[in-house]
Amino acid sequence: MKRSLLNLVLATIVLSGLGWLGYRAEAQPRVEPKQSSGVRKFMRKKLAITQDILEGLATEDFNLIGSAAKQLKSMSEHADFMVSKEAMYRQHAEDFERIAGKLEKAAGELKLEGSALQYVNLTMNCIECHKYVRDVLVAGKAVPTDAELLAGLATLK
Ligand code: HEC
Repeated sequence: MKRSLLNLVLATIVLSGLGWLGYRAEAQPRVEPKQSSGVRKFMRKKLAITQDILEGLATEDFNLIGSAAKQLKSMSEHADFMVSKEAMYRQHAEDFERIAGKLEKAAGELKLEGSALQYVNLTMNCIECHKYVRDVLVAGKAVPTDAELLAGLATLK
């Protein structure tokens, strides 16, 4: 009797331990961020500058939009940005630079709608590159085939 009680207690401890492990496994993010804090800081700065663009659009401050776009453009070749040499990553980084350039130009020409359009393009570019980084570079899913890459490139303007 005493023995079976002890077994029950042990089993409970083991099971709750397993449950806790399971919970821990679920609480972990699916993809661990791999980058150093320097890279993360750099990326956060990118976010803050992008928010300046939204502020500039909302207040029709073309100087703010233009200088933010210029800063983003200059960041695109920084080592903290070029964390991967994969062709598709480079493609996203080149798009980033190109769109930031278009945004700077639109702001210089005081075009509100044109600037807003490039802001949307830029946001899509952030999302696409992050998706690529999560799915392919971090999670190690299969790198897209040439055909998929070409199809993807064809959709870019
Ligand atoms: C060419 C690819 C690329 C583009 C384009 C890009 N990023 Fe990133 N971004 C990265 C990489 C790589 C990381 C780091 C991912 C990791 O931690 O594993 C990152 C991470 C981030 C993070 C998270 C930093 C943290 O605290 O972990 C933010 C915020 C961010 N980027 C903002 C932006 C914004 C805003 C844009 C668009 C204006 C943008 N990024 C465009 C590659 C890109």
